[in-house]
Amino acid sequence: MRIAVIPGDGIGKEVMNAAMILLENLNLPFKYEFYEAGDEALKKYGKALPDETLEACKKSDAVLFGAAGETAADVIVKLRQELDVFANVRPIKSIKGVDSLYKDLDVVIIRENTECLYKGIEFEIDGVAQTLRVITKKASERIARFAFEFARKEKRKKVTSLHKANVMKKTCGLFRDVCREVAKDYPEISFNEYYIDAACLYLVMDPYRFDVIVTTNMFGDIVSDLAAGLIGGLGLAPSANIGERYAIFEPVHGAAFDIAGKGIANPTAMILTACMMLKHFGFRDEASRIEKAVEDTIASGLKTRDLGGNLKTFEFTREVVKRI
Ligand code: NAI
Ligand code: MG
Repeated sequence: MRIAVIPGDGIGKEVMNAAMILLENLNLPFKYEFYEAGDEALKKYGKALPDETLEACKKSDAVLFGAAGETAADVIVKLRQELDVFANVRPIKSIKGVDSLYKDLDVVIIRENTECLYKGIEFEIDGVAQTLRVITKKASERIARFAFEFARKEKRKKVTSLHKANVMKKTCGLFRDVCREVAKDYPEISFNEYYIDAACLYLVMDPYRFDVIVTTNMFGDIVSDLAAGLIGGLGLAPSANIGERYAIFEPVHGAAFDIAGKGIANPTAMILTACMMLKHFGFRDEASRIEKAVEDTIASGLKTRDLGGNLKTFEFTREVVKRI
């Protein structure tokens, strides 16, 4: 299987190094091919997502992505649309030993990935800037169905739809109605909905009321970072972008220029992202072994700076390798 690896910018490169050490340790039928994209690629080639990289992604079985910087919209948002990986699966799961706001939290955010305000249709005429919010019945239905199928497969009990249909009556209204319709096909899974603003309140004050969340692209982006904060930060939040044909695996975080180049980024999100890729291809044991090694490392108090520890990225990675 061919994996197109795109480390990207900032800490993307640093955490990708860590994940690759773990992946290359396993004897799996993967062929890793490295490609460039991001701010540095833009400077070098005049294009943030060079044609060669896009073509390689289209020929691969999966893409493993680190992070882009200021060019994220032209790289990862574009890649998601180009490869039509419509479902962004973002597990928010507490890890033992992390001094987080909440313990034993286990929520999965399913974010629609191909439309909404992130479609990138913008105009500016005479000092009036506009962005088109595109919500289609087709994309709403496939993300809602994906969320319920996911809940069924993972034996989860509840799906919660987040929107703002009281204000955005057409776009969010369509999304809300489609979710309600799809929910009827899954009577064994309970279904409810909140307006996005109230949902943010509930996430902070009582996140245990959530199980699987389904929402539109930009709301999903925002609540993902918020929810990551509940379990200890972006250093712990992995994600998978799933479509009919393609899959892109990437951590929730970006290039984190505030800490880039210091070797202190937490590679856990990227490592858990690699585990999501392994599971996607059926290598469940290998994924579990790595996940357990990460958990054991953190539980024994060995942590990176974001979690209150003092290990550098490579030191933490070395500890994980030792425990496999
Ligand atoms: P960010 O996600 O890069 O960082 C937000 C905060 O979390 C920062 O304080 C950072 O230090 C911390 N953080 C993130 N990942 C961490 C890790 N693995 N270990 C420890 N701390 C971590 O978001 P920010 O700062 O808003 O954006 C930085 C750049 O990344 C921007 O140029 C932005 O456009 C880009 N970006 C790219 C994304 C992508 O490629 N998927 C997603 C989000 C932002
Ligand atoms: Mg984001």
